[in-house]
Amino acid sequence: MVILITGANGQLGNEMRIVSKASKDKYIFTDVVEVDGQETAILDITKIEAIRSIVKEQNVQVIVNCAAYTNVDKAENDQKISELLNAKAPENLAKAMKEVNGLLIHISTDYVFGGDPYNTPCKENQKGTPTGVYGLTKLKGEENIQKSGVDYLIFRTAWLYSEFGNNFVKTMMHLTSTKPQIKVVFDQVGTPTYAYDLASTIFNILENRKYEGNIGIYHYSNEGVTSWYDFTKLIAEIAGNTSCDIQPCHSKEFPSPVKRPAYSVLDKSKVKNTFGIPIPYWTDSLKKCMSNLMKS
Ligand SMILES: NC(=O)c1ccc[n+]([C@@H]2O[C@H](COP(=O)([O-])OP(=O)(O)OC[C@H]3O[C@@H](n4cnc5c(N)ncnc54)[C@H](OP(=O)(O)O)[C@@H]3O)[C@@H](O)[C@H]2O)c1
Repeated sequence: MVILITGANGQLGNEMRIVSKASKDKYIFTDVVEVDGQETAILDITKIEAIRSIVKEQNVQVIVNCAAYTNVDKAENDQKISELLNAKAPENLAKAMKEVNGLLIHISTDYVFGGDPYNTPCKENQKGTPTGVYGLTKLKGEENIQKSGVDYLIFRTAWLYSEFGNNFVKTMMHLTSTKPQIKVVFDQVGTPTYAYDLASTIFNILENRKYEGNIGIYHYSNEGVTSWYDFTKLIAEIAGNTSCDIQPCHSKEFPSPVKRPAYSVLDKSKVKNTFGIPIPYWTDSLKKCMSNLMKS
């Protein structure tokens, strides 16, 4: 089987490169630019003809879409590009895969929720209530895929971090080692997700053809619940950054262009029951990722 990965230079895309090394399938890694030392074909997912042509030339049967516009704050002012990448481009991918009776695996976000004051974990069939442009455009992307008639798996994930690119874990490792005091919000609750764990799950489903008969939306984050404040406390502890005073604060103390969900914990019963995949607890995965980061 030929599987094409988009956004292969991003966090999840890079983890897909790692987990798929021993695959029996052929993986093609694509992004908008090449990075030194990485095999990457150029593919801009906003261009439907470019997608059609690589699908035809390489006989692609599955696309895993790891590309997106992921800057939640900047999306508020970059509405057009957010819409193009998060809503229109998934529709392009869906159309191209529908034309060859292929499968689209797409990644969405817990930020499709948050507008209502939830306090129980969000289920897949719960109505989306995004609080900002990023969440809204990601929700439109999901809807466009569903309308296209393509076979799809959509994984909504949350608070993604990895060894690659910029992310919260790396930022807090740096800040807690250089600042005497920092404030971090404790009134936003969710679950961090190690991109490697999500990539392993997608890989397992593909390698074992578990997608057959199971199209739909699934929630995937690591297990457990925390706030950004508690997340930071553990990052500092694992990094051995003991001299930084980490204080909890309210979201309103940080002027932000976007209101973020106060509670966006995902209920993962469906993904576990359908695919029989164990999900690591968030602190165990954080330790693994940070151990890799501290070695490099
Ligand atoms: N990060 C999170 O906390 C988080 C949370 C929940 C859900 N998610 C979702 O999880 C998925 C993976 O996120 P991530 O953090 O791995 O993303 P990421 O690190 O931002 O990677 C996205 C990749 O897509 C590429 N890209 C941008 N425009 C493109 C285009 N027109 N065509 C092809 N590729 C393009 C980017 O290239 P450039 O960098 O050169 O622009 C980048 O390499 C996304 O769908 C995201 O919405 C993320």
